[in-house]
Amino acid sequence: MLTVTKIAQLDSVLSEWRDGGERIALVPTMGNLHAGHLSLVERAKSKATRAVVTVFVNPMQFDRAEDLVAYPRTLRDDQYKLEGLETDLLFAPDFAEIYPHGTDNTTYVDVPGLSNILCGANRAGHFRGVATVVVKLFNLVRPHVAVFGEKDYQQLLLIRRVVGDLNLPVEIIGVATQREPDGLAMSSRNSYLTPGERERAPSLYATLNETVDRIREGERDYRELETLGVQRLKLLGFRPDYVSICRQQDLAEAEASDADLVILAAVYLGRARLIDNIVLNLNDAF
Ligand code: PAJ
Repeated sequence: MLTVTKIAQLDSVLSEWRDGGERIALVPTMGNLHAGHLSLVERAKSKATRAVVTVFVNPMQFDRAEDLVAYPRTLRDDQYKLEGLETDLLFAPDFAEIYPHGTDNTTYVDVPGLSNILCGANRAGHFRGVATVVVKLFNLVRPHVAVFGEKDYQQLLLIRRVVGDLNLPVEIIGVATQREPDGLAMSSRNSYLTPGERERAPSLYATLNETVDRIREGERDYRELETLGVQRLKLLGFRPDYVSICRQQDLAEAEASDADLVILAAVYLGRARLIDNIVLNLNDAF
């Protein structure tokens, strides 16, 4: 696997591949790779002849509540894991390579509507940062396909919207959430948890599953279920940001007549902000 840090190096490798008719898949990450990230790389490899992974801890998407400096950086380890999957190219640029004018003076991509709800409501600029860096990475790599995790449901929807709105020539693929054996969604932020918090953390997913069960049993007062979910999470020792039952296609609040639902939650547990979601299609047989 080749590791490059400069755009010029990236260009020369990619143009050779493109001239050779290779099909290129991109997996953008912020590093500290776990099995969830690696499942995206495996999917990328199955969809293309060359798999490119990027590792860039994007300052533009961090807000003050989350410490950019504390975000785990484990490039050596990441390289080792990617080598094991026969990844073709790792692009790991530094800040100046991506934001030569800084993050305050750069041109940006805003997605109205989807950016200021749920995970965007209390985190000003987060999704602007995500949309902007992802478009930049698309323009730098010009992949045929790009792979993202369904764990970050709102992010995946936002990226699909950007690609549609701006007519970007890339196919977006979503991959199911990879979980620890006890149900906790894998996340780089799980390393922030103390042993006691780690023991409690799987009850986030359990609470989402309880909500799903109640909907399957016929409960349709979704606002009431959201309130109950928040109360339950508080009792379990989390500081809930939201529990929300939404329509899959646009993350609007779901109504009783909607069939394609996604139940999302975000909580704080100690230093960590954890998110999770479950999609539920009421017209499918259970
Ligand atoms: P990061 O949190 O590193 O995640 C990179 C990709 O891995 C995202 O598409 C995310 O949804 C996916 N992922 C994370 N945990 C997963 C899990 N347990 N199962 C499956 N996929 C998982 O998301 C970002 O970085 C950034 O916002 C980024 C898109 C790279 C832009 O900076």
